[in-house]
Amino acid sequence: KSPKKDIINAKVMGHRGAALLAPENTLASIRAAAATGVTWVEIDVYLIGEDGLIIFHDDELSRCTNGVGVTRQALPEYVAGLDAGGYFSAEFASEKVPTLVEALECIQSLGLGLNLEIKHDESDVENIVPPVLAALDAHWKDNDKLLISSFNHGALLLCHQLDKTRHLGQLYGPIPEDWQTQLEAIQAYSLNCDYRALTQEKAQAIKGAGYQLLCYTANDMALVAQHWEWGMDTIITDDPTRFAPLL
Ligand code: G3P
Ligand code: MG
Repeated sequence: KSPKKDIINAKVMGHRGAALLAPENTLASIRAAAATGVTWVEIDVYLIGEDGLIIFHDDELSRCTNGVGVTRQALPEYVAGLDAGGYFSAEFASEKVPTLVEALECIQSLGLGLNLEIKHDESDVENIVPPVLAALDAHWKDNDKLLISSFNHGALLLCHQLDKTRHLGQLYGPIPEDWQTQLEAIQAYSLNCDYRALTQEKAQAIKGAGYQLLCYTANDMALVAQHWEWGMDTIITDDPTRFAPLL
């Protein structure tokens, strides 16, 4: 099988923006990532209320904001008023939870590529995938600077069904036996796995099948020294400065 065209072409990608340098998944975090010289960022998109799309990781609001409650049930007006940076440090107390559109505009204005991770329950993919694709259609210009990823295979299947042009990344913790069947079903661009789950054998099989190979989340070069030899293409990190020689 011929390898996928490498649209990412970068060894290092910022995680949740650059989660160790600024509050994760905020515009400040995206700007902090850009300032390190990294050319791609990963962020998480989450559906709230009926049709709100926000950049957020957790199922609960409390860790990363001054709000409380279940993220999925939060009203967009409530989330818009929250402080999403004060918990990180006083300097970031004015940071907000970005909407998807605000993040797309910020990322493009910085000239970065985007790995947009769709967070959601298997039961709810039909509520999040169409509005995410609609927002991308309306607000994202360069399809070769966009990877859509998810742990949720159903979400990626629906993405693929609705739009065959998007680059898709199947996320895994441990890599399941049937990874190849799943990647073929969505004509995946990449397999994105926990760096601790990768073995030399798995890496060779994934690269041999023609896929790009991304790993998350390592914050020390020594942790993934072998992974490059095995064929890993890109590491997702909370602090790209720790991979400065590879930027
Ligand atoms: O996309 C890589 C990584 O972000 C997946 O895990 O929990 O940090 O979203 P998580
Ligand atoms: Mg993520």
